Amino acid sequence: MDRAGEISLLKTLLHYLDTKTTCMATAPWRNEVTAFTCPERHEREQEILIRKRPLVMGLSCDWPKPGAYRTEDYAGVPILTVRGSDGKLRAFLNVCRHRGAKVAQGCGNAGAFTCPYHGWTYGNDGLLPSTKAITSASCTRNRSAASWSTMSGTSPRSGATSVSCSGAPSSTGCAARRRVSGT
Ligand code: FES
Repeated sequence: MDRAGEISLLKTLLHYLDTKTTCMATAPWRNEVTAFTCPERHEREQEILIRKRPLVMGLSCDWPKPGAYRTEDYAGVPILTVRGSDGKLRAFLNVCRHRGAKVAQGCGNAGAFTCPYHGWTYGNDGLLPSTKAITSASCTRNRSAASWSTMSGTSPRSGATSVSCSGAPSSTGCAARRRVSGT
């Protein structure tokens, strides 16, 4: 918005304050019921509003200590946010790189996450600490993956933590990179 637009907007707001009025539409707005029931529209909203834009996951204080983690599922994207032992907040697809099982449920505090399927264990920084444990797993074909699917990004000043699912798959088993903002 340019300066003239800002001044005009402020004058309008001051007018509402002075006259104790507010902005009113010229007529009632009728919203079709299908706006709430149409599955195609719901899918488009998920794609455009949730999967292509940063999502507020919480305040950074929601992960108060190293190891604090939370899991979410937005628009079919399983997300794990965790504060690493180094104090950094990171987000990952909550998907094991091996066969796609979820490695964490709910919320809590953990120094590591062990996949319930074949036991691959990830540090709270997303790295596989050692490949030794993997050699004993029943499947070793995909162990070249050295870390989780990460989300990375920049920190806002507000303390709010957001994640972008842009380009994320709607199902598990993907190793694409994602974005997190926060401290
Ligand atoms: S799916 Fe996680 S270790 Fe196999």
